[in-house]
Amino acid sequence: MLENLAPQPADALLALIKLHNADPRDSKIDLGVGVYRTAQGGTPVFKAIKAAEARLLDTQISKAYLGPEGDMGFVHALIPYVFGTDFDRSTVEGMQAPGGTGAVRLAVEVAKRSGIKRLWMGTPSWPNHAQIVAAVGVELKTFAHMTADGFADLDALKAALASAEPGDAVLLHGCCHNPTGVDYTPAQWDEIAPLLVERNVLPILDLAYQGLGDGMDEDAYGLRKVLSVVPEALVAYSCDKNFGLYRDRVGAFYAVTSDATALTNAMANGATIARASWSMPPDHGAAAVRLILEDVELTAQWLAELDDMRDRMRSVRDRLAAAQQVGTINMAPLGVQNGLFSMLPLNGEQIMAIRERHGVYMAGSGRINIAGLTDGNIDQFIAALGDVAG
Ligand code: LMR
Repeated sequence: MLENLAPQPADALLALIKLHNADPRDSKIDLGVGVYRTAQGGTPVFKAIKAAEARLLDTQISKAYLGPEGDMGFVHALIPYVFGTDFDRSTVEGMQAPGGTGAVRLAVEVAKRSGIKRLWMGTPSWPNHAQIVAAVGVELKTFAHMTADGFADLDALKAALASAEPGDAVLLHGCCHNPTGVDYTPAQWDEIAPLLVERNVLPILDLAYQGLGDGMDEDAYGLRKVLSVVPEALVAYSCDKNFGLYRDRVGAFYAVTSDATALTNAMANGATIARASWSMPPDHGAAAVRLILEDVELTAQWLAELDDMRDRMRSVRDRLAAAQQVGTINMAPLGVQNGLFSMLPLNGEQIMAIRERHGVYMAGSGRINIAGLTDGNIDQFIAALGDVAG
């Protein structure tokens, strides 16, 4: 039987990790997978997480099962950060998920079970979005996320919404758009939110980088704006980046609805999907996040560490933008984009050339991880870019 299996292409982004690791050049630069790096090039565990883990080690008396919804203390502790302190708690419920991927999977599966047949999404997007939508069996409709001059393409979203059928879903990145770094502005979100209501579509909001753009509240602007007007929405949340918990897989799936039965059923469906998929989410990272959010001092420490990350990425962006023009590339937009990623207008040949000639590893889309750049390698990167984009 197994001989009938078709070969599968390696995941291009994850394959890049191995290619970079295998490159013997000391001067190589990893701008591939989205992990934060310090100015020294490392991805250390947050100090707040270390402290919470130490506390967890001391105080955890059991590792007995928690259930498919995971650690509800974690799920509820995040609510004021994601939805705002004034949010009506009776309209939202959530469950833990294995990372942002697990949360998106739950959101799309629950949407499908509620009768959604089509999902609209701006492209380019995180490649796993389309894979998840295909795996769940929902039809994907796309529109342009970005204009040619590097701004969020509101007209394309409006046109997509105009063609959407009532009962379709629309997946929107809450902040720090992956892969472009181009977010809708607050004024654009103000226009988008009422259109979602008018068109009667279900928003699925993916918030995987809260705090890495402009700040925790600022990065939730779009999500909160949408939720202030729509009758219902689904939210996929990730703590993998803003708590640096990547491999511990820490995420949450939330449903927001004004109908109490619909809310109960959204969670019940999420729980049965989780049970049949991973049964229960991994506990450790979420428990550490909960311990941080339950403790004022650890929360302050975590937020300060997040501020440092954001400031560093902003300074890298400033330096890239200061280069103004590198070969054919206008660098100015990188200065106003947000989060870990920006996308450079390079073709496949140029992306291979910068890898082979200069040891610079970036995704095949031209996406770079801003945090992969440091004082020690940024000039080398700009020179390499000039060489291939000249
Ligand atoms: C990325 O886009 O690099 C990250 O979100 C990691 C992943 O799972 O793709």
